[in-house]
Order: sequence, then structure tokens, then C-alpha cells
Amino acid sequence: MSQFQEKTQITRIERFTEDILRLTLESPEIASIAKPGQFVMIRTGNSSDPLLRRPFSISQTSNNLHFQVLFKVVGRGTSILAHCREGEFLSVLGPLGNGFTIDCRNRNCLVGGGMGIAPLLFLAKAMLRKCPDTPPIVVLGSRNREELTTLVYDFAELGLSAYTATDDGSLGHHGLVTEVLETLDLGADCTNYVCGPHPMMTAVHLFCKKRNYSCQVSMETSMACGMGACLGCIVPVEKGGYGHACTDGPVFDAKELVWEVK
Ligand SMILES: Cc1cc2nc3c(=O)[nH]c(=O)nc-3n(C[C@H](O)[C@H](O)[C@H](O)COP(=O)(O)OP(=O)(O)OC[C@H]3O[C@@H](n4cnc5c(N)ncnc54)[C@H](O)[C@@H]3O)c2cc1C
Ligand code: FES
Repeated sequence: MSQFQEKTQITRIERFTEDILRLTLESPEIASIAKPGQFVMIRTGNSSDPLLRRPFSISQTSNNLHFQVLFKVVGRGTSILAHCREGEFLSVLGPLGNGFTIDCRNRNCLVGGGMGIAPLLFLAKAMLRKCPDTPPIVVLGSRNREELTTLVYDFAELGLSAYTATDDGSLGHHGLVTEVLETLDLGADCTNYVCGPHPMMTAVHLFCKKRNYSCQVSMETSMACGMGACLGCIVPVEKGGYGHACTDGPVFDAKELVWEVK
């Protein structure tokens, strides 16, 4: 699979909340070959602090020219990224990883939590193209309405009305996405595509296991190189040993992973 390391120009910055932003970056090379579920490694600043690139899912592409990343400020790298300006250039490596496998035979359900929603918009678009007769069900969770509103609107623009859950009850169900899933008629065969905080993915995996549904999870482990050259991203796998989230994933069949269930 081709990968590029290049200087990409920031053509647009959208600020959803004080700490959630979306960047549009110009890169025909990356935008034209990226698959939903793949990610890029971004050097967040021009100095050596922080030294390592940071991984971000590709949240959508447009016209084989631009791609977007949606991110939340959690530390040094994302804080520097949040202070970038339109017109500036960022060094980006990608697209990396395997991406989701779209299955048109089953009902499809996209389940995203927090910044894990990022790759699902790109996935929804690809799914609507590939399986036009079976639009996916979309279930999105976050802390509050403010974090979700624009994302829900983006799915609505695709004709997809998302079920929502928020921690504070300000939008949709007051509680967890899995509680929403329990109320939906997903049929006998449903493939779930999941990205979000680890406890949420564990809960969705258990929900799917109970119903014998397929479940693909995108693992957002910490990463140092993004290319299989360190052990920064390893995840324990059922067959024994470890997989690299950066090269064997970030998307795994949930059944292949070891889940810590308390
Ligand atoms: C494949 C992949 C895709 C990702 N996609 C997105 C995305 O689309 N949007 C987004 O906002 N984030 C995404 N992340 C997470 C993002 O990479 C981290 O938030 C970022 O690297 C933090 O960098 P920092 O320098 O700001 O924080 P750091 O200073 O490195 O860390 C600050 C705090 O955040 C925690 N942290 C760091 N990385 C992660 C992580 N991966 N998961 C949970 N906690 C973490 C640290 O433990 C620490 O407590 C993705 C991660 C992976 C592996
Ligand atoms: S991040 Fe280095 S091996 Fe995966």
C-alpha cells in the first residue's frame, strides 16, 4: 500500500468547542487513496517538541484533494495543533493502517464515541456508495450536545439520522451508546463498526458477542512510529502474543482481540 510523507497545507480550521477542532488539509496523494479507518501521523509542530508524530483518523476526504482530521486537545501535541492557522503547513505521513472492511450482506451499524466518531463519517460515505440499498444505522455518543451537534449534522447531510447518547442527557439518550443499541431492531445479522474509548468498545464487543453479531473495532492505542517499527501500539490477541495496532490494525475483528472484562 502506498504511503506519502509530505507537507500539507491547512486550508480550513473549524472550531466545534473550545477543545474540539477539525482541520482540512490539502493532499491529493493522501486524499485520493485513503480508505475509511486509515489514519495519518502528523508532526504537530515545527520544532522537536513534541518529537513524535501524533496519529489521527482520516475523518473524510473530498474531491481527491482534501482530507480532514477531527481532534480533541488532550496534551502537548494536540494543543500545538489547535494553535495552527489556515495557510500553515504540517508534515503528514499516511495513509496508514488497514481500514474497515465494508460488508453489504448484513445490516450495518456504526457506533462512535467521542473523537472515535471521526472515522465513521468517512466510512458512512463509502458504505452509502457501496451498499446504496442498505444505509447504515448510526449511533453516536459523547459527553454533551455541544460536542455532537456538528457531527450529527454531517451525518444528516448524508441522509443518515443518528441515534445519540450523551453523558449529561443534553442530546438524545441520557447514558451509554450500548443502552441505545439494546433498544434498536438490528435484525439477526448485523455488522458493527466501532471506534471510541476502550470501555465503550469493550461494551459494544460484549453486546455483539451476546447476539452473535460481527464487530470491527478501531483501536486508538498510543503510537510512536505508526509503521510497525516500535512496540508502542501493541494489543494482545486471542491466538496468543500481540498485534501492532498501526500495521495489523487499527481495525480488528473484535473476536481476534483479548478484552479485559471486569
Ligand atoms: C489510529 C489512531 C487514530 C486516532 N484518531 C484520533 C482522532 O481522529 N481524533 C483525536 O482527537 N484523537 C485521535 N487519536 C488519539 C490521538 O492520537 C491522541 O489524542 C494524541 O496523540 C494525543 O497527543 P498529545 O500530544 O496532545 O497528548 P499527550 O501529551 O501525548 O497525552 C496527553 C494525555 O492523553 C492521553 N492519550 C494520548 N494518546 C492517547 C490515545 N491514543 N488514547 C487515549 N488517550 C491518549 C495520554 O495518556 C495523556 O494522558 C487517535 C489515535 C490512534 C492510535
Ligand atoms: S506505533 Fe510503532 S509499531 Fe505501531
